Amino acid sequence: MSDFQDLHGRESGSWSVRDGQAHGREVRSMFARISNVYDFMNHFMSLNQDKRWRDHVVARLDNDSWEILDLCAGTGDLALACVRGGKGKSWIAADFCPEMLEGSQGKKDAEHLILSAADAMNLPFKDHTIDAVTVGFGVRNFADVRRGLKEISRVLRPGGQLLVLEFYNDDPQAVGEAHGVPGIIRFGLNTVIPFLGKLVGRDGKAYSYLPSSMGEFLTPTEFANLLGEYEFTETFIERQTFGIAHIVGGRLP
Ligand SMILES: C[S@@+](CC[C@H](N)C(=O)[O-])C[C@H]1O[C@@H](n2cnc3c(N)ncnc32)[C@H](O)[C@@H]1O
Repeated sequence: MSDFQDLHGRESGSWSVRDGQAHGREVRSMFARISNVYDFMNHFMSLNQDKRWRDHVVARLDNDSWEILDLCAGTGDLALACVRGGKGKSWIAADFCPEMLEGSQGKKDAEHLILSAADAMNLPFKDHTIDAVTVGFGVRNFADVRRGLKEISRVLRPGGQLLVLEFYNDDPQAVGEAHGVPGIIRFGLNTVIPFLGKLVGRDGKAYSYLPSSMGEFLTPTEFANLLGEYEFTETFIERQTFGIAHIVGGRLP
């Protein structure tokens, strides 16, 4: 029985463990292909809401955090939001796709970022050296989410924070206001975005990946429960704009 069945009583989802190297290569080359349109698509697709969501992550960071690791940093927007929000004194922007990291160059405050071409499955950082890890729209792409969480908890110091902004799967158990992504937005994700990806980025496949990977990933509640398995405490879920995205986070004891 897979971990996923153990946890949730469902068939193993592809969020769990994929063929690590092949999956990593595929994801890296997909982001390399769209790196030059990534920022535009991101802001356009979210009607600029992505900037607010990142600011909400920054607001949750402790004021006395020193070393912040932004994992799956892409073109650096979340790491830069930390710099501008006055959280941290040292900012590592880590991503396994150099083309995405290059996209941070030339942005305001980018000179403060330490760029690291690092794979989240095997982080090149010492144990217990990081005060806070942020991940924006990254964990959904991991070949092995458990391995990623193990690495994150290894590099975090005791008391360190983890904040994960993500397009999680819809929560079938959630009721009322919290229930799922509204149909009109779901329609946009499934049809308009791949169409625009094809038009702007000439890569409909990459942008079809967004809705399909959302559908295969964990719900915010499932992810919060998983954090508990890696000893994170004070776990929370913060819903963003109609539940399109959520911040899920916690703190090591
Ligand atoms: C959707 S982008 C998010 C970029 C940025 N965090 C943001 O908020 O816009 C996802 C990024 O995760 C990176 N990524 C995916 N899997 C990774 C892994 N195993 N290790 C490091 N980076 C990874 C990709 O290269 C890509 O740049």
